[in-house]
Amino acid sequence: MAGDVGLTALLVAAARAQEAARPDSLAGDEFAEHFVRAAGLDWPVSWSAAVDDSPVWGRLGRYFGLRTRVLDDFVPGTPQTVFLGAGLDTRAFRLDWPSDSHVFELDRAAVLGFKHRVLASVGAVPLVKRTPVEVDLRGNWSAALIDAGFYPGLPTTWVAEGLLPYLSATAETSLMRTLSTLSEPGSRLFYEAKLAVEGPEVRASPIYTGTLAETGIDLLGLFADHPRPDSAALLASLGWGVTVNTCFDFTTRLGAGPLPVAADPLASNRWVIATTTPSP
Ligand SMILES: C[S@@+](CC[C@H](N)C(=O)[O-])C[C@H]1O[C@@H](n2cnc3c(N)ncnc32)[C@H](O)[C@@H]1O
Repeated sequence: MAGDVGLTALLVAAARAQEAARPDSLAGDEFAEHFVRAAGLDWPVSWSAAVDDSPVWGRLGRYFGLRTRVLDDFVPGTPQTVFLGAGLDTRAFRLDWPSDSHVFELDRAAVLGFKHRVLASVGAVPLVKRTPVEVDLRGNWSAALIDAGFYPGLPTTWVAEGLLPYLSATAETSLMRTLSTLSEPGSRLFYEAKLAVEGPEVRASPIYTGTLAETGIDLLGLFADHPRPDSAALLASLGWGVTVNTCFDFTTRLGAGPLPVAADPLASNRWVIATTTPSP
């Protein structure tokens, strides 16, 4: 795995395994547990029961579970889907895709290599045409995507789930401009962003201190520490229809998920859904 940023993919996979074990599970991922076991991590996650009182596996885990469910419902539908910072996403192996769909998974070579080994070891078979693409999303990744078979003339669903907080403002803006250029009418985008760098009270949240203590992952040290760009405004200026949501909006809609608390790291997260106007 590629150091701490690769470990964050394992953190989300562990949360998905945990979510699947809940009696009121919002999403299932039968492959998630295999990744965490294969990585040999001794994280105190339970594979068989919910742990609501843990800030990491309870509240943050529930956040990831809700996000997984929202995107499971959102993604299948366009001829192409591109997962930006795909990590250990297994939607190509577990969702019902329209025939002739093509899924691209973009991430670093080490993350994709680990994912491939684990999925092969459990005999996982993709349910859709799937192409992993090794890239650094801070650079020029569009040529590699097109070389891998992406066709800019087809509507695409783009997903940046848990990626943008790790990118600089410049890299985020460049990524948005690039994907917009590659988006035929009828394309859609989901991205998760933090509105701003958080203040000291939020940075002291048990979500951050607990994640560091239980997994060794210093999320605050990984997040870009400068003002965030307004990508929603940028996309609107490029002609996209944009809806900005909090995770709590989806908790209300689905009847399960995290609720707001004081000094809450989840409060500054936005789940943005953008669409280009389909051709008449
Ligand atoms: C928190 S994980 C999220 C993974 C997946 N989207 C999910 O929600 O399960 C972030 C992922 O972004 C990838 N990533 C971060 N920076 C990247 C970069 N510059 N280029 C490519 N991938 C990157 C990491 O390797 C990691 O797999």
